[in-house]
Amino acid sequence: MSHISHVLLGAALGGAAVGACYVGPIDRPSDTTSKTNPTDPQGGDGPGGSGGDAPSGLPCDIEELFAKRCRACHTAGGAAPMPLVTYDDLTAPSKADPSKTNAVRSIERLRSPTSPMPPEPLERPSSAEIVVLEKWVGAGMPRGECGATGDGGGATGSGGGDAPVVCTSDTFWTSNRRGPTMQPGRACITCHESEEDDPVVWVGGTVYPTLHEQDGCYGIAGGASVVITDAAGRVVTLPVGATGNFSLSAERSAPLTMPIRAKVVRNGVERAMNTPQMSGNCNACHTEQGANGAPGRILVP
Ligand code: HEC
Ligand code: HEC
Ligand code: HEC
Repeated sequence: MSHISHVLLGAALGGAAVGACYVGPIDRPSDTTSKTNPTDPQGGDGPGGSGGDAPSGLPCDIEELFAKRCRACHTAGGAAPMPLVTYDDLTAPSKADPSKTNAVRSIERLRSPTSPMPPEPLERPSSAEIVVLEKWVGAGMPRGECGATGDGGGATGSGGGDAPVVCTSDTFWTSNRRGPTMQPGRACITCHESEEDDPVVWVGGTVYPTLHEQDGCYGIAGGASVVITDAAGRVVTLPVGATGNFSLSAERSAPLTMPIRAKVVRNGVERAMNTPQMSGNCNACHTEQGANGAPGRILVP
């Protein structure tokens, strides 16, 4: 069955090749370190570069986020303990936890329910703004030169199809078994609808630790739940299973009233979808690269 993932891989590679993008990690799903431990911050061009307007070395969307939300305090000599201005600032080790870069610590503080950055009472950045930074870190923090290149210069474009894809769990679904743990990452209902019988699931999807995980790759190994609230106010809590899947089976439940809201909850911390959706086919939008505006996979909080 492993050839299935190769077929999907081929499709992903084909799409990426069009944009002449970074395909290295796709061949090496075991590379799980790039998420939290980006290597070789010097990987880009040498200092200087061609775009004299871009002293920071950051892609435009990252530059904008820090300029707008952080640099009131995080400049050299500012109120905060360290500057967050240049590429080197973001890839430098954090003072509080030198095992992490300032960029990774920034994500943690942006997401922190107890000690958020920017500090209260400043407005919290939106989930979409934080996802921009998560995507960039997930992609290994590629250098950018804001305004100097023609390739859009950003990691934000949903469905851009060019983010490197990983399999953090390093485990792929290779079985013929059918049931709640099957085919993690793939669009459950797209497949179930094509069956002759009535649909077997109303809602189905997979929760992952990072945004761009391959089809067939196992997600988180349980320990979280997905809470759905339908338009009639009905609330269902779906446990996340061993392959990261969650589902509401038609056998056990009446249909939901669309649109539905969704959030993922773990240890009392949650990550919610802002927009109500007309479909329970979660992985149809939360694809490897993200489709229909979704940033990528459904992430654990
Ligand atoms: C109003 C001023 C202010 C703004 C705006 C601000 N910070 Fe901070 N930041 C601080 C101060 C002061 C500290 C040190 C105290 C602390 O850690 O809470 C700090 C600490 C931090 C740390 C901790 C360093 C470490 O290694 O743990 C990170 C990371 C951080 N800020 C990221 C950000 C990011 C990212 C933004 C923008 C999204 C931001 N901050 C916006 C004032 C600010
Ligand atoms: C390649 C097609 C395909 C994909 C993709 C797929 N399924 Fe299935 N699934 C099936 C088939 C076929 C069955 C057996 C249907 C039957 O027994 O009538 C099944 C059965 C199930 C059942 C058992 C239903 C029951 O009442 O016994 C569950 C639960 C289930 N799938 C969940 C999922 C989830 C969750 C996903 C997405 C992460 C998913 N499936 C993806 C084809 C698929
Ligand atoms: C038709 C497309 C679509 C479907 C179907 C869909 N989503 Fe989303 N989802 C999005 C978009 C677009 C966003 C980003 C904007 C937002 O938060 O509303 C998103 C965001 C999210 C987020 C927040 C992401 C973050 O990191 O802040 C979660 C969690 C989520 N979705 C879970 C789900 C679950 C669970 C399902 C299935 C019940 C689902 N989604 C079905 C499009 C979809």
